[in-house]
Amino acid sequence: MLGALVSVVLTLAASGSALMPHHGAHTRRHNNIGHAVSYVPRSSGYKLVKEYAGKSFFDGWDFFTDADPTHGLVQFVGGDEASKLAYVQDDGTVVLAVDQSNDLVNGNRKSVRITTQDTFDRGLFIADIYAMPHGCSVWPAYWSLGAGAPWPQHGEIDIIEGVNEQVQNQITLHSGDDCTLDRAADALANKLGFTCTSSNGNNAGCAYQQKENTTYGHGFNMQAGGVYAHTLEADGISVWFFDRNAIPADITAQTPDPSSWGTPTAYFPNTSCDIATRFQKQQLIFDITLCGDWAGPAYSQGNCPGTCADAVKDASNFDVAQWKIASVRVYQ
Ligand SMILES: *[C@@H]1O[C@H](CO)[C@@H](O)[C@H](O)[C@H]1NC(C)=O
Ligand SMILES: *[C@@H]1O[C@H](CO)[C@@H](O)[C@H](O)[C@H]1NC(C)=O
Repeated sequence: MLGALVSVVLTLAASGSALMPHHGAHTRRHNNIGHAVSYVPRSSGYKLVKEYAGKSFFDGWDFFTDADPTHGLVQFVGGDEASKLAYVQDDGTVVLAVDQSNDLVNGNRKSVRITTQDTFDRGLFIADIYAMPHGCSVWPAYWSLGAGAPWPQHGEIDIIEGVNEQVQNQITLHSGDDCTLDRAADALANKLGFTCTSSNGNNAGCAYQQKENTTYGHGFNMQAGGVYAHTLEADGISVWFFDRNAIPADITAQTPDPSSWGTPTAYFPNTSCDIATRFQKQQLIFDITLCGDWAGPAYSQGNCPGTCADAVKDASNFDVAQWKIASVRVYQ
């Protein structure tokens, strides 16, 4: 019943995210000198345990083909149908795309959503991405979800997520009980919300929004993307973003050492959340949905023409609605 399980997840995550702008009063940083909780690397000696790259990339992932839990105007496909949208180029680049060939009179556009077969309780995850989907109606995400319990009891970690023509990435955690983002956590991005725990219909999660327009969408793609690296360890969850031209040499050499990367982009220390308990059995996911619970309501707030559903009909809107992935590597 993973489908059903997953289905609740993104729905709630999505509606939560959509609520984020209403929490604007809480966006100031709380990293005053003397009170800051700073990232201190406590795990080192990371060794490669799993590589998703090149011709064998898809061997490690399953295609999700249920109805989109977030009510997007997509049909997630698998099998032969998916091979037109999810494939490996001759140069080894992995492509995940929305159908960009067929105009629709009505109905849902074909898309893909993939989940790793492996689950991870901890580790360092490094995604090297050349391009990401964006555009009117488009809602992509690179995230992970804890298997084997009702959402969000094993936690959800959203690393890359946004909607429509958004220009700054949002990083969000959703969790079970007793988990907040420490206001004193020292990180480069702006804090958007502090309650990671979902309760009584409040599913906004705790989150950061990055400041640069190279972190998401068009700006990200114009520089051939970059690297999102994150650690999930008992002492906290930390996320770093590196522009394409600033990827640390130790990442390229596959001997990554987070202690050399400086202040994280986003940092969720264990000081106000028992990370090891709240985030377990994570499976990585890439997907692209359209409209739905977040991109739909947010559609009119951007500079997109007409309605979200109309945008979905026109294939020419999806020329850049694709992930282009160099690799995802997991170290422990
Ligand atoms: C990103 O922001 C910079 C500085 O404000 C601006 O010059 C540049 O045109 C923007 N790039 C994109 C792709 O929006
Ligand atoms: C939080 O991290 C510290 C430092 O690594 C560790 O000593 C402590 O046991 C952790 N607490 C929990 C609840 O995991």
